[in-house]
Amino acid sequence: MIEQRWYKNTIIYSLALDSFLDSNGDGIGDFGGLLKRLDYLQGLGVGAVWVMPFHPSPRRDHGYDVADYYGIDPRYGTLGDFVEFTHACRTRGMRVMMDLVLNHTSDQHPWFQAAIEDPESRYREFYIWADKKPKNAHEGMVFPGVQDSTWTFSKKAKAWYYHKFFEFQPDLNIANPQVQSELLKIVGFWLEAGVSGFRLDAVPFLIAADEKHPSDAEPAFDFLRRIRELAQWRKGDAVFLAEANIPPEDCIKYFGESGDRLHMMFNFPVNQTLFYALASNDTGPLREKLEASRDLPQTAQWAHFLRNHDELDIGRLPDDQRAAVFAAFGPEEHMQLYDRGIRRRLAPMLGGDRRRLELAYSLMLTMPGTPVIRYGDEIGMGDDLDLPEREAGRTPMQWSGERNGGFSPSDDPVRPPIAEGPYGFQTVNVARQRAQEGSLLNWTERMLRMRKELPELGHGSFTILPAPAHVLAMCYEFEDNLSVFVHNLAEERIDLKIEQLPQDCAQRPLVCLQTDHEIRPDAEGCYDLVLEPSGYKWFRLGGLEDMIEGDEPQADRPRKG
Ligand code: NOJ
Ligand code: CA
Repeated sequence: MIEQRWYKNTIIYSLALDSFLDSNGDGIGDFGGLLKRLDYLQGLGVGAVWVMPFHPSPRRDHGYDVADYYGIDPRYGTLGDFVEFTHACRTRGMRVMMDLVLNHTSDQHPWFQAAIEDPESRYREFYIWADKKPKNAHEGMVFPGVQDSTWTFSKKAKAWYYHKFFEFQPDLNIANPQVQSELLKIVGFWLEAGVSGFRLDAVPFLIAADEKHPSDAEPAFDFLRRIRELAQWRKGDAVFLAEANIPPEDCIKYFGESGDRLHMMFNFPVNQTLFYALASNDTGPLREKLEASRDLPQTAQWAHFLRNHDELDIGRLPDDQRAAVFAAFGPEEHMQLYDRGIRRRLAPMLGGDRRRLELAYSLMLTMPGTPVIRYGDEIGMGDDLDLPEREAGRTPMQWSGERNGGFSPSDDPVRPPIAEGPYGFQTVNVARQRAQEGSLLNWTERMLRMRKELPELGHGSFTILPAPAHVLAMCYEFEDNLSVFVHNLAEERIDLKIEQLPQDCAQRPLVCLQTDHEIRPDAEGCYDLVLEPSGYKWFRLGGLEDMIEGDEPQADRPRKG
């Protein structure tokens, strides 16, 4: 087997520096703290650490308002600390991915400041202007209820500027070749500093048809090709992971028909229908979105996730499905956000039910693509709904039962750690779970190890096997490997018959990776199995241990039990 592309079979772990670990006692997590926890991440099985924005920033949108693309916010450390960090990851066989926010800058960025000061400045055309208030100024806001327009008047500039997000995040004018050159340079810079990839923020808005090409987005799409070409010329194995919450049929434009644009995209349609499946026990819509996610160019890859640092966005579900998810996971108004989402962490949404948490994680880990996990979910952290908007799910990592959950000795941590209730740091923390054999942390570690031993999930092709609507049974094939994953969403035990598998299975047993028990097919090649309520099982045909080429399959190999 030729060594495969790294991003197709890795585990990505996303974290925000400010809430991970504070190394100097000022209450803000930093690179020094992160360095101390790299062995923890390596032990968990993480292959790539995605660090959320760390540039100098007024931090009015958690750093997604960048004031200097070439710098490090001094609260987090220095450029030297950053390179130490990328080096330390490399020595542990981990890669670094960083957020790249190219759709907009902070209004404090020197480009925007120059643009508003002087209409003749070359930076004026870096942004998007109108002399009169545009008619649609109160349409298309990304944060309805908090943001009330997409155009704001600048007194200094004496003109209106466009901002898809908050008014302090003016959109860059991607149609301007000078802007494109600047953005490419930023990519080149961070590649030299040791990153292997970028999570590209807000891509649909970045490439939205601009006023020069109002009905033709192709020139803007071509920027995605240019940015990839530059990155791969500078560093062959660098990748882009696009944040784009769009329908599956539009995704091919982001990957490029020939796979020459972005390598990876978060699969938002699968995320939303997966939550619907958990809410309703109906896997129908999830199956549809999985089917719609096929036939990618060879280098393209999906990234799958449960929760991220934003609200759980269910805005693209049909009304009845969205209502079902709200009712199950975010029934109260203060749990909801922006008319489309739920601002809770995974564990409280699932009522802290360990079986449902395992089921949700197992489903996500067996989707066709690369899993992305979020800091704290490996120990089942909760949320703080007293914090505003998306801050609820951004509380400090809970390392121990010590002061501030071991996050910082400061009296004034960046956000208050969760100190009370079932998700308080006294109860939910890494130290405690490390010591408990059956903890969620140890379970997650085992699952991640198994996930990486199943490259067919990241590289292979899948078939959805016939099963009742409350069961998802999928089969993956890649090279000589075949595996089957079954999930029972209902609260009843079920008997399931797996009909003839797609490949000629030569009467080989399916070996359950959780129990090491094997199931032998009957004379018709069907496998009978039982699934507990909310149960899941992972099987590999013949087991995980590779057969030596030429060996006969050992039909009667003893198995435990
Ligand atoms: C998407 C990010 O995930 C979100 O946190 C941010 O507010 C917007 N993009 C704007 O950059
Ligand atoms: Ca600090």
